[in-house]
Amino acid sequence: MVAIVTHSLSKTFKSLGKASVHSVTDLNLNIEENEVFGFLGRNGAGKTTAIKLLAGLLKPTKGSAALFGVDTRLAHARSMMGYLPEHPYFYEYLTPRETIAFYGRLRGLNSKERKSEWERISELLDLRDIADRRIRGFSKGMRQRVGFAVALVGDPPLLILDEPMSGLDPLGRRMIRELILQLRDRGKTIFFSSHVLSDVEEICVRVGILVSGRLAACDRIDKLVGNTAKSVEICATGLDDLFCRKQSNFILEYEERKEGGYRLVVRDTELANILAMEINQQGGTLLSMHPVQETLEDFFARIQDSASDIALAEG
Ligand SMILES: Nc1ncnc2c1ncn2[C@@H]1O[C@H](COP(=O)(O)OP(=O)(O)OP(=O)(O)O)[C@@H](O)[C@H]1O
Ligand SMILES: [Mg+2]
Repeated sequence: MVAIVTHSLSKTFKSLGKASVHSVTDLNLNIEENEVFGFLGRNGAGKTTAIKLLAGLLKPTKGSAALFGVDTRLAHARSMMGYLPEHPYFYEYLTPRETIAFYGRLRGLNSKERKSEWERISELLDLRDIADRRIRGFSKGMRQRVGFAVALVGDPPLLILDEPMSGLDPLGRRMIRELILQLRDRGKTIFFSSHVLSDVEEICVRVGILVSGRLAACDRIDKLVGNTAKSVEICATGLDDLFCRKQSNFILEYEERKEGGYRLVVRDTELANILAMEINQQGGTLLSMHPVQETLEDFFARIQDSASDIALAEG
């Protein structure tokens, strides 16, 4: 079963006397049930707009989206989804316990179900210590946890989370990462946006990258970064600084290693082989030569550049 499908989903904001903003353009997504999908993009790329379209909070200008086959314009689609907004809004005078009960009522749970929902969710998000304090005095991280808790009310099969780790300290972030994996293990589908690429690399198999409202890449992380070696690293002994400086026109960087010898980095294997011959001719000894894989961050930076080149070419 497919959890999320979008067809040419687009949103343009128009305001009188101002240029239109094309926040999301022709977005085609296919998120499988039980997948943890990371939605990436720079500030202003259109992530929140796309998420609000999925959550049925914005109406598409063009195209459509469906959750488990149900169009997001229908109320039934919303009942299958838990949503964490980018800036969660609360009734400040309620406590977390009352807030969860309030959303439980909205979800149609009876009093016994609401009580057991509180037990389940407060345990998952470690809310027991702050259960009966008013949200008004809460820190950013506490609010984020309550926001996540609200998304879990009613145990929906799909969670759509707009920056769930935002504002959390390292331990809080780890708690959310572990919780997302735990939810996946219980069969849930999780679609979330984030700026923290290391968090995404740790818990997602597939990611989508938005650049200026368009999906510039969407694939398994290992496929996106696995095919490209960004450089080749050579370690060798019997060299000196003068040798390295002489090769500086094709060496990207070099350094003397603590354990002896030099570490030299070149752009590709062809240059690495030429350098290996030079090292040999100088009487040096080659210790190792291996490709340096691109990281998700390298890929993310590269795709921004190539996508903006395409945008320029399109005029
Ligand atoms: N209600 C609105 N009216 C006009 N423009 C809007 C509106 N909401 C969003 N935008 C514009 O749409 C673009 C995408 O914004 P969006 O909030 O979706 O980005 P984002 O990827 O979530 O960014 P961030 O990482 O900063 O949260 C921006 O140019 C923004 O100014
Ligand atoms: Mg956003």
